[in-house]
Amino acid sequence: MNQPKRYLITSALPYANGLKHLGHLAGAYIPADVYVRYLRAQKRDVVFVCGSDEHGTAIPIQAMKEGSTPQAIIDKYHYELKENFADLDISFDIYHRTSEPIHHETATEFFTSLNDAGELEQKETEQYYDEAAKTFLADRFIKGTCPNCGSDRAFGDQCENCGRTLSPDELINPVSTLSGEPPVKKKTTHWYLPLGKHEQFLRDWILKEHKDDWRPTVTGQCKAWIDGGLQSRAVTRDLDWGVKIPSNIPGSEGKVLYVWFDAPIGYISATKQWAIDNDKDWKPYWYDADTKLVHFVGKDNIVFHCIIFPIMLKLHGNILPDNVPANEFLNLEGDKMSTSRNWKVDMIDFINDFVKKPVPEGTTYDGKQMVDALRYYLVSIGPETKDSEFTWKGFQTAYRSELSDIFGNFVNRSFVLMHKLCGGKVPKLHEEILDDNDKLLFADIESTAAEVQSAIEYYHFRDALFQVIDLARKGNQYLQKKEPWILAKQVAANPEAQKQIDNCLHICLQLCANLSILINPFLPNTARKMLYMMKVVEKMLDWENAGKLKLLSVGYSLREPQLLFRKIEDEEIDYQIEKLKNGLIKPESTAPMEEKKEQPAPAEQKALIQYDDFAKLELKAATVIACEKVAKADKLLKLEIDLGTEKRTIVSGIALHYTPEELIGKQVIVVTNLAPRKMKGIESQGMILTAEDSDGKLQLLQPQHPVAPGSNVS
Ligand code: MF3
Ligand code: ZN
Repeated sequence: MNQPKRYLITSALPYANGLKHLGHLAGAYIPADVYVRYLRAQKRDVVFVCGSDEHGTAIPIQAMKEGSTPQAIIDKYHYELKENFADLDISFDIYHRTSEPIHHETATEFFTSLNDAGELEQKETEQYYDEAAKTFLADRFIKGTCPNCGSDRAFGDQCENCGRTLSPDELINPVSTLSGEPPVKKKTTHWYLPLGKHEQFLRDWILKEHKDDWRPTVTGQCKAWIDGGLQSRAVTRDLDWGVKIPSNIPGSEGKVLYVWFDAPIGYISATKQWAIDNDKDWKPYWYDADTKLVHFVGKDNIVFHCIIFPIMLKLHGNILPDNVPANEFLNLEGDKMSTSRNWKVDMIDFINDFVKKPVPEGTTYDGKQMVDALRYYLVSIGPETKDSEFTWKGFQTAYRSELSDIFGNFVNRSFVLMHKLCGGKVPKLHEEILDDNDKLLFADIESTAAEVQSAIEYYHFRDALFQVIDLARKGNQYLQKKEPWILAKQVAANPEAQKQIDNCLHICLQLCANLSILINPFLPNTARKMLYMMKVVEKMLDWENAGKLKLLSVGYSLREPQLLFRKIEDEEIDYQIEKLKNGLIKPESTAPMEEKKEQPAPAEQKALIQYDDFAKLELKAATVIACEKVAKADKLLKLEIDLGTEKRTIVSGIALHYTPEELIGKQVIVVTNLAPRKMKGIESQGMILTAEDSDGKLQLLQPQHPVAPGSNVS
């Protein structure tokens, strides 16, 4: 395989309209990160870009749902997403955003240059229009029944259920998302990208040139699209949220770029910003043919990355992607993941419940183990060739029986035995007595390194990971055959036995060093923990060391082993399953959004009270000192709170919103003079105040800064 000079790797820019779930993570972020970490270990020139997609109708719609503004929405979710990715060790070189001026400039230049070159057409057509909202209904402003799968969750741009790309005219029984009314038609003028002109190019490029190296699921979808007839696509919209068409172009008033025109250009503007920040030149990454551009996306993004954006890139004189290793979908516990039905596990939930969860004192493991646990499971079930399924039990089992029992166990045994039988030092290798088992394992180390490399180069990440685990499995089998603990009993009578022990553990330790290199792209935290145990520097993880048999020097003393993978308890898994089931929202009503806004119904407004009525309440700040779930009650938590002068027990219905661990140490506001009440046999001596947001989520009321327990609240 001839090597390109440089790599530009992208992950789909997530819409900054909400939190992202594990399906997104498995689809476009973890595989890209594995690939990039591998390339970095290869010392290749690589830039990994991503950022928030902040335009399109998805943003104003979310603003309406939250009673907020588009700007506030993107600000809220951009930073959240950025932090979530960092917490899960997705190692972008830059996480940018499309609301930045540099992006607006880049996207505007792109449009203008295609327009000036006569590559766009301007056309007047009739489009759906909402007379009540006085808005044209493109993309998510219009919904209806999907002509492909019959689901009623289809929008004007895409079906939520089957992922098919749609246009508003294809929807059956369309209604406005804004008013809930059936739309009328009205004339409007837009710019179009005539895809049909490029049919031959696409056929040659995708169906011939990349016939063998792109995934069949990807070329298959492209072929179906091309065969279905390539229509001109509008690249502008009548909207006031997005990248504005320059005012010196006639007809630009009120028009912005279609989000799918500007968002992929976000990869370019992110590269530019990265170059500015790092004093580099961005141009070769987008113009030099010796750059390998790879887009990691989910299958619902294939058409945009394989057909529309490449046409734009070609017209603009840029390089084309070398591959788009798109993933299929990840289902969850037997059903499709869905944001609208809340059938999903958000990244942030995993982070809160596993990564940032406090661990018992005196233990050596940390939340980063759980990052690696998740990365392991998501790669091992990666939907590379077909849809696959995440289950919580599957997560626990794969983690325990593969990662912990095979990989973790081998490393741990090697270190324990080396400390016990070889004085804590890397023992000597006695070449003269090497036997077939030793040689076989050497050969396995070498061949596995080559196989993992080739699998990663071809984007077969699952396969690559299984090879690594398999090598650890061979290590265990080797130890089992050699039985150094039995040999140890013979040493007194037969000094040769010590030589055999030395050889066995020497080889096991060299295997450990190799495992750390091979696992590094997948589980970076585990690799680093192993480095620490081996007392070697980061440099050892360079890929050129993979398959080498003399990575650790003889006589070098190593640290005591540390537990690489903690146990995941059944209760943790049961809790997640319960949480998922309790959070499920039954099929969405077809009620329009306007109705949702008017929610605080008059009936809920309470009668006026006098100050004296309010003054009857005794409110105090308290600190939660202990907390546990109440048996046989999904929603209840039992809290011990400290009021400074006394401690009390409170039962509160917040179990679906907080875990006991999250609450311990937090301050809360308590109504302290409420008559005690028994719940599930426990006397509750007060009530905790919470605020409920529009989607029913409860949040604790807290003093802005901690105050002394027992402080008055008024
Ligand atoms: N925001 C889009 C989505 O979530 C993906 C945009 S990818 C890019 O489906 F190419 F446009 F950046
Ligand atoms: Zn559909």
